[in-house]
Amino acid sequence: MNQTKNSIIIGSDHAAYPLKEKVKTFLTEAGLVVEDVGTHSETSVDYPDIAIKVASRVSNGDFKRGVLLCGTGIGMSLVANRFDHVRAALCNDLFSAIMSRRHNNANILVMGGRVIGETLAREVVTAWLETPFEGGRHQRRLDQFDSMKNMV
Ligand code: RB5
Repeated sequence: MNQTKNSIIIGSDHAAYPLKEKVKTFLTEAGLVVEDVGTHSETSVDYPDIAIKVASRVSNGDFKRGVLLCGTGIGMSLVANRFDHVRAALCNDLFSAIMSRRHNNANILVMGGRVIGETLAREVVTAWLETPFEGGRHQRRLDQFDSMKNMV
């Protein structure tokens, strides 16, 4: 089902489960309705299963935005960016978070629960939610790859 603009989907593996619980709080405080696809404990799971749950729902338009978290953020980024229309940006710092919105129109924010602390994660989430896409030449560049198929 198509969700409202005020909804966001989130998922993490076990390595970032504690950070996911914090990030859910930040998102709720920002006025968003959060759909949590798991995981729900620190018991080991495979990050691709979670990345697929989030990225597929952003790819098909059910959600405009998502958040993915794993130990480094790398695995989640690799999987999510295989989906059409997904622009997942690994942002473990504030500058990357801002630029991922301004220039890349990132629709999934990825962070590493073993890399970034709670305080910085809150700042990253806030900046990522509040920073608009600049469009223009950046849209042209996104058009060049956003629906890429069969590249060798
Ligand atoms: C899990 O140990 C770890 O590999 C995962 O959280 C992530 O960092 C993968 O990229």
